[in-house]
Amino acid sequence: MRASFRSAASPLAHDDSGALPTLLLLHGFPLSRATWSHQVESLCTHARVIAPDLPGFGDTPAGQGPFDMGRYAGACAELLEHLGVAMPVIVVGHSMGGYVALELFRRHPERVAGMMLVSTRAGADGPPARAARDAAAEDVRRQGVGVLVNNMLPKLLATSTAQAHPARVEAVRASIEAASREGAVGALAAMRDRPDSTATLGAIRVPVSIVHGTDDALIPPSEAEAMHAALRDSELVLLEGVAHLPQMEQPGEFDAAVVRLLERVRQAVSR
Ligand code: MLT
Repeated sequence: MRASFRSAASPLAHDDSGALPTLLLLHGFPLSRATWSHQVESLCTHARVIAPDLPGFGDTPAGQGPFDMGRYAGACAELLEHLGVAMPVIVVGHSMGGYVALELFRRHPERVAGMMLVSTRAGADGPPARAARDAAAEDVRRQGVGVLVNNMLPKLLATSTAQAHPARVEAVRASIEAASREGAVGALAAMRDRPDSTATLGAIRVPVSIVHGTDDALIPPSEAEAMHAALRDSELVLLEGVAHLPQMEQPGEFDAAVVRLLERVRQAVSR
């Protein structure tokens, strides 16, 4: 069964499909839960799949700040509570969603049974990256989120994917256009100020899977390799010819990696 809730009574707009165990899918910047629309359908025979829009993206209003990873992680924990999810979940974080996943683990380790880190990194922003966040925020303040469509859309999907699947390009464009100006500016500050999660990796005891495209121009695959080396129990999946959105570019390979992770989590909890 697939249910989609956009009620004002719910903390975050979200999709919710399938039965236990629970997958929590966290989207990247400046995207929305629409980037998981394939997985919300395809994985619901393996798990209950919850895919929220983070504050200021998709159908979730930006609300009052602060804009930081703690607020995003707190909103996710609140959503799980709101939905009555008592068991630990498998958190799948794409890019900025990976930063939120690591923050969720820091705050609520008991809530995390497994983790997938997709097209993301553990380190914090250095001075040049922080300055670039501020410049991007200024552009969004002045010109709106259209500037993000121009600057980011060409880098999110590999050229081969864009040519073969124009509908996916349009879906990503619509996802960016659904972001609010305030939410995008806030998220740029949240990413700029996020903590370094390198030490957090060493504290993770649950199974982790790392999925990254070989052609990711936004976050290089060397970041995935570094996280894999720092984790105790991880699988590294490098997808050839994929850019920044593996879940949309190679959904079949991506889903297979999620199913393998679910099996590793099942084995870990039955030990
Ligand atoms: C994302 O896709 O969420 C962003 O590219 C991450 C970032 O800019 O650090």
